[in-house]
Amino acid sequence: MRTALLLGASGLVGGHLLRHLAADGRWARVVTLGRRPLATAGPTHEDHVVDFDRLAEQAALFACDDLFCALGTTIKQAGSRAAFRRVDLELPFEAAQLAHSAGATQTLLVSALGADPDSRVFYNRTKGEAERAVASVGFEAVQIARPSLLAGDRAEVRWGERVALAVLSPLAPVLRGPLAALRPTEADDVARALVAVAAARPAGTHVYPPEAIREWARSGGAEA
Ligand SMILES: NC(=O)c1ccc[n+]([C@@H]2O[C@H](COP(=O)([O-])OP(=O)(O)OC[C@H]3O[C@@H](n4cnc5c(N)ncnc54)[C@H](OP(=O)(O)O)[C@@H]3O)[C@@H](O)[C@H]2O)c1
Repeated sequence: MRTALLLGASGLVGGHLLRHLAADGRWARVVTLGRRPLATAGPTHEDHVVDFDRLAEQAALFACDDLFCALGTTIKQAGSRAAFRRVDLELPFEAAQLAHSAGATQTLLVSALGADPDSRVFYNRTKGEAERAVASVGFEAVQIARPSLLAGDRAEVRWGERVALAVLSPLAPVLRGPLAALRPTEADDVARALVAVAAARPAGTHVYPPEAIREWARSGGAEA
């Protein structure tokens, strides 16, 4: 019986991850760390409010088997490129280091399609740097999901995403070949896929683009 540690549980993908993990008998404990309290997701769920600027002082909370990181922000939300990098690169890296030091053997990161540490696009470069940083920590298994534009019920209004989803979602069935990358990825599929992959636990570093996310989500490896 394993312990899952989840960061980003108040977000779109993180919320689905919490629901699936808490309903999945393979994890005896599902621990969430966030900056505000979360409603309980069930008897195995244990929530902690933490200061993300002092994670190292709360190192004991990072004891787990599997670290799931679904943290993320936008430059607009964060207020600056530096603040964006803090959430999308520095925090995932620090959390990975703390969890690894506390005994975690697997980490699962929600990244993004196009992530590339050498990209000239700031967003893609930051995501690529985050992947590289997390993969360098020394886990036995590193699973990196790279969804395209996320579809799902988001409380916050992001007009750019809404317009893109309104245009691309109906076109999804005909977006094939190189255009397939434009098909939105269901946030729930990302969560289902990561839970299924976490349970299968392939060793080494693996990257899951949108089509692989959909396949893993359909695989039925997630119990709930
Ligand atoms: N949006 C897309 O279309 C898209 C596409 C591909 C990949 N992605 C990536 O997928 C991942 C998950 O995306 P999502 O849309 O599910 O994210 P989301 O709904 O925006 O949730 C982000 C999570 O990060 C937390 N967070 C943000 N800033 C924080 C801070 N300064 N300190 C601590 N926690 C902070 C949020 O907590 P609070 O609730 O406290 O704010 C929330 O739990 C992200 O890495 C994102 O870049 C997104």
